[in-house]
Amino acid sequence: MGAPSKHDNRSCLSRHKWKISILAFIIIAVAVAVPLALVKPWDKNSSDSSSNNSQNGSNGNQPTGPVTPTNPGPIPPSVPIVPSKNDTARPNAYTPPLNEAFDYASGKMKMRGVNLGGWLVLEPFISPSLFDPYIKQGVIDEWTLCKLLGPEKAKAYLEAHYSSWVTEDTFSRLQGMGINHVRIPIGFWALGGLTADEPYVPTLSWTYLLRGIEWARKYGIRVMVELHAAPGSQNGWNHSGRLGPINWINGTDGVANAQRTLPYLQQLATFFSGPDYAHVAPIMGLLNEPAAHLIGVDAVKNWYTQAIKVVRAATGTGEGKGSWAVIHDGMVGLNAWAGFLPGSDRVMLDTHQYIMFNDDLMRMNQTTQLKFACETWGGSAITSTKEFGPTMVGEFSVAVNDCATYLNGIGAGYRWDGTYNGAPPKSPNSTCTNENNVSTYTPEYKKFLSNYFLAQIEAFEQGAGWFYWNFKTENNPLWSYFAGVEGGWIPKDINNRGPSYCASAGYSFSG
Ligand SMILES: *[C@@H]1O[C@H](CO)[C@@H](O)[C@H](O)[C@H]1NC(C)=O
Ligand SMILES: *[C@@H]1O[C@H](CO)[C@@H](O)[C@H](O)[C@H]1NC(C)=O
Ligand SMILES: *[C@@H]1O[C@H](CO)[C@@H](O)[C@H](O)[C@H]1NC(C)=O
Ligand SMILES: *[C@@H]1O[C@H](CO)[C@@H](O)[C@H](O)[C@H]1NC(C)=O
Ligand SMILES: *[C@@H]1O[C@H](CO)[C@@H](O)[C@H](O)[C@H]1NC(C)=O
Ligand SMILES: *[C@@H]1O[C@H](CO)[C@@H](O)[C@H](O)[C@H]1NC(C)=O
Ligand SMILES: *[C@@H]1O[C@H](CO)[C@@H](O)[C@H](O)[C@H]1NC(C)=O
Ligand SMILES: *[C@@H]1O[C@H](CO)[C@@H](O)[C@H](O)[C@H]1NC(C)=O
Repeated sequence: MGAPSKHDNRSCLSRHKWKISILAFIIIAVAVAVPLALVKPWDKNSSDSSSNNSQNGSNGNQPTGPVTPTNPGPIPPSVPIVPSKNDTARPNAYTPPLNEAFDYASGKMKMRGVNLGGWLVLEPFISPSLFDPYIKQGVIDEWTLCKLLGPEKAKAYLEAHYSSWVTEDTFSRLQGMGINHVRIPIGFWALGGLTADEPYVPTLSWTYLLRGIEWARKYGIRVMVELHAAPGSQNGWNHSGRLGPINWINGTDGVANAQRTLPYLQQLATFFSGPDYAHVAPIMGLLNEPAAHLIGVDAVKNWYTQAIKVVRAATGTGEGKGSWAVIHDGMVGLNAWAGFLPGSDRVMLDTHQYIMFNDDLMRMNQTTQLKFACETWGGSAITSTKEFGPTMVGEFSVAVNDCATYLNGIGAGYRWDGTYNGAPPKSPNSTCTNENNVSTYTPEYKKFLSNYFLAQIEAFEQGAGWFYWNFKTENNPLWSYFAGVEGGWIPKDINNRGPSYCASAGYSFSG
């Protein structure tokens, strides 16, 4: 997830205007580099040939043989993943079976999904227990965690997590709740091809991804595989693998890393458009939250243009030829994408809607927040669908405060109680003490959460649908779909949820 300061950062736009001329150069460089991108991620020589990548050519983590996505290797204990040929499962009456097309284009069917976050890409706030033992030693993200542990220990550590965080039971429960899609974030390291200085565990997560997809298939749940972490970090946030400066488009190796990302997409598109996966994985996220507000909207648009070309070259064009390609709004809002790539073949726009990272939205009272969700978010879904095309919300939650442990980063503090960046608390008596403790939630608060959940999904269903962030967390209930169902503020069956909240409150979706 996460746009820690999606809106706050808008003010940075002007401070970054000086970069525009540098970016013009980068745009050209990326465009020139793209034809060279149709190479395998692990084929180091060819991916480096077009530019002077300052990273070393040798690769300690590089797989010894060609580790191709079609040969992910055995999963422990040596059970190979054989894709099932049975695509007849149907998760619920609302959703067609896998072997019949899901109609993403017309808006008649809505994606009602959750993210399987904190699984194959780690996030401190989703699973603090993975980070807690190592925080004193400076661990802040997956990069520093893997680096500290070293290849062998990191592999064992992550494998224990991969094999327990998501299980068959996860899919069975989601099916029971009426969910029809899951969005699965992965890091580029899932396909290997790491440079010598990249400490990530290569290829292990690929195996677990495929195992998860088989479970999804069994329960008739469609999978959106989503590149969440690109080489160099496309946003500098911890959930991109590495917290720090953006070295993607921007930075010393930025052009090379942006170029290096493309063959990963080519591999994913090729793999998932094959007959074994086309039904169960019919939609693919090209890249999560590239920080266009910091590194340039035009540069990011240009990169997405190239990425879509690479994907379509791999899948062929036209309905039925490979997956939908989802691009993210890059934290600059949906309007910036109106008219982008008109008439393109199965491209969807993704935006992430959160109020707790924005001071103005967080400080609104609850009534205004509900109205805002219905009217402003519903209105923007309608407008974007008209002016861009199919538009989805790939992340949202019912959190109205930022009190979740580590949400703003390890040790960063919270806007809600006035411990973050010197801003005052929401109200003089606001504390985070009980905000993550469900047993302190009053019936009135649960009613508000329920209304806020409905307001959002009704708004987002003015577009192509939604994915809750996240399916579960270790201890932050407002960010957990499962906790919401258990706590009573998310309907037990999402396809049978009673009357519209927005309509009953008198709010329209037109803004
Ligand atoms: C790459 O750049 C480095 C540092 O700028 C330079 O020393 C080296 O000669 C360059 N290598 C190539 C192959 O151009
Ligand atoms: C195919 O999958 C469905 C749903 O999981 C199951 O009900 C059915 O028995 C399977 N058919 C075969 C032939 O295995
Ligand atoms: C890169 O190569 C240089 C020169 O051979 C070497 O000193 C350095 O340790 C290498 N860096 C990594 C990360 O392998
Ligand atoms: C862009 O790259 C430069 C050079 O590495 C770095 O100093 C800067 O912090 C990066 N910008 C962002 C927004 O990360
Ligand atoms: C909530 O805020 C709105 C807008 O500022 C205001 O008009 C309204 O009276 C407030 N409602 C409550 C219950 O405080
Ligand atoms: C760390 O990730 C969380 C989401 O897991 C995000 O909200 C937070 O802003 C990130 N912190 C930093 C400093 O990037
Ligand atoms: C905190 O103060 C606000 C007014 O500033 C009040 O509406 C609210 O009920 C108080 N909350 C608690 C838990 O005391
Ligand atoms: C949660 O709240 C309950 C009821 O106030 C309290 O007994 C319990 O200790 C709290 N749990 C935590 C972890 O703070």
